[in-house]
Amino acid sequence: MSAVVVEPSAAQFEQPSLPQAEPCVVVIFGATGDLTRRKLMPALCRLTNQGCLEKVRILGVGRSDMTDDAFQAYVHEALKDSDKLERLNEEEWREFSQRLHYMSGELDDDKTYREVAARIEEFASEGASKNLLFYLATPPSLFSTIVKRLGAAGLNNEDDDHWSRIIVEKPFGRDLESAKALNATIREVFKEKQVYRIDHYLGKDTVQNILVFRFGNSMFEPIWNRNYVDYVEITAAESVGVGSRASYYEEAGALRDMVANHLLQLLTLTAMEPPVAFDADSVREEKVQVLRSIRRMKPEQVIERTVRAQYGPGEIDGEKVKGYKEEEGIKPDSTTETYAAVEFHISNWRWSGVPFYVRTGKSLGRHLTEIAVHLKRTPQALFARTPVDEIEPNVIALRIQPNEGITVTFGAKRPGLEMCTTTVHMDFCYQREFGVEPPDAYEMLLLDVMRGDATLFIRGDEAEEQWRLITPIEEAWASEGVRDLPIYAAGSDGPAEADDLPAGNGHHWRSLNESHAGCD
Ligand code: BG6
Repeated sequence: MSAVVVEPSAAQFEQPSLPQAEPCVVVIFGATGDLTRRKLMPALCRLTNQGCLEKVRILGVGRSDMTDDAFQAYVHEALKDSDKLERLNEEEWREFSQRLHYMSGELDDDKTYREVAARIEEFASEGASKNLLFYLATPPSLFSTIVKRLGAAGLNNEDDDHWSRIIVEKPFGRDLESAKALNATIREVFKEKQVYRIDHYLGKDTVQNILVFRFGNSMFEPIWNRNYVDYVEITAAESVGVGSRASYYEEAGALRDMVANHLLQLLTLTAMEPPVAFDADSVREEKVQVLRSIRRMKPEQVIERTVRAQYGPGEIDGEKVKGYKEEEGIKPDSTTETYAAVEFHISNWRWSGVPFYVRTGKSLGRHLTEIAVHLKRTPQALFARTPVDEIEPNVIALRIQPNEGITVTFGAKRPGLEMCTTTVHMDFCYQREFGVEPPDAYEMLLLDVMRGDATLFIRGDEAEEQWRLITPIEEAWASEGVRDLPIYAAGSDGPAEADDLPAGNGHHWRSLNESHAGCD
C-alpha cells in the first residue's frame, strides 16, 4: 500500500494513477479450492482488467487432473459467481484467461515441485518473468509440507534479477506452540522479508483508514488516550451462520476464527503509537508493541473477562434460521462457541485503565463491524438544573462494514425556548463522499505482495504475540469444561451473559441497531 494523497476537485475525486505489479508468476497451491474460486481469481481478474498486472502469469496447482483449457473454463464459471464481476465482458475475460495455466500434482510429493520449476523455466523461455509468488491457499495442514518442498526444489532462492515471495493464509497455527513451529519451518526456507502472512481485514479500505483518521488529522490524536477515552468496543457481528464450513469451524470456534486475528488487528490499529514512517518495519513494530503490552490472562481472569456462547434457532430478516447444532455437519452435542467476547487491558502509558471490549458472533441480528471509542463524560453537569435530557458521552464510531463510514455523536441544544439537549450525529459516509465501492481486500493485498510492500501483512513475531494472548483463554476454557454453554437466539444481539462483561465496569455494548448507519 503506497501513501498516495488524493485531494478533492470541485465536483469529483481524482483517482491517482494505477499502481503496477512487478512482473511475476503467481503459483497458487490449492487452485481448485474455495478460497481460490471465491476470492483469489476474482481479485486477480479485476486487477488485470484495471491494467495493474501487465506482466503477470498465473499457475494453478491442484490435485485434479485438468488441462489449461479446462482450468480456464473452471475459473470462468467461478467468476460468474462474483458480484464484483457481473459485467465482465468477452475482451476482459480473454485478457485474463490467457494468463491462466494449470498443472496437477500431489502437494506432498517432491516431483510436483520439480515440475513447477520446469514449468516456470518454460514460461521464462517464452519471455515471462522469473519473479515468483507462491500462494498457500490449501488447508493449513499442508503449509509446512509445501514450504519444505519449495525449499528442496530451490524455489525459495532469490538473486539479483529475481525474487521469490510466499503468501501464507490464515489460520497461522491454532495455538502459540503450533504458530512457533510453523514460523520455524518457514524461517528455515524463507527470509522474513519474503513472507507475507495474510489477515484479509488489513486489506479493507476502512481498516487502513483507521490510521489515516488517527494520524492524518490533528484533531483526534490529542484525545486518543486514557485521559479522554473511557472504553473502546470492537464488534464484528455476522448475520450469516456457519454455512458450508462445518468441519473447519467445529475445530476453530469464534475465538480462533475471528478474535485471534481480525479483532486483534483492529485493536492494534486503534491502540498503536504513531509509527515513525508508513512502512512495513515501522508500522508492524508499533502493532507488535501493543500486543506485547497486553498481559496474558490467568485462568481466573479468563472466567471474569470472557464470554462464549452458541446460536440456537431464531429469525433473521423475517426468515426462520436453524440453531448451530442443527446445521449440516455439526455434531448435535457440539460445544463449539459461535460467539466470543473478551475484555482486554493494555498496560501502557496511553491506555492503562481503559478496557478494550471485543465481541464477535455468527447468526446475529445484523452484519456490522465497528470500532466505537467512548469518551469520558464532561466533568461538570452544567445543564443539570435546566429541563434537560441527559447528554450522552461522545462516541466516535468507525464503521468498517457495511455502510462504511465514521460517525461522531455529540450533545446539542434542541431548538426552542427551553434549554433542552439531545444527542446528534455527524456522519462521514464513504459511498456518499467518494461514489465508489471500496476494492475487495484481496485485490489490495495481492497487489501489495507483487510490489514488495509488507506493511499490511502480519510479521512472524506478531502472529506469535496474537496466540500468546489467545492460547491461555482456550486453555482455561478447555480446563473449565462446558457445563452450560449460553445459547443466544439467532437474530439477536448475542447472549445476555455478554452484557455483564462491560456492565461490571459501568459500561455497555452498543446495540447492533444503534450504530447510526447514516449511509443507509
Ligand atoms: C474469515 C472467517 O476469516 O472472516 C469467517 O474465517 C468470517 O468465519 C470472515 O466469516 C469474515 O470476513 P468478512 O470480510 O466477510 O468480514
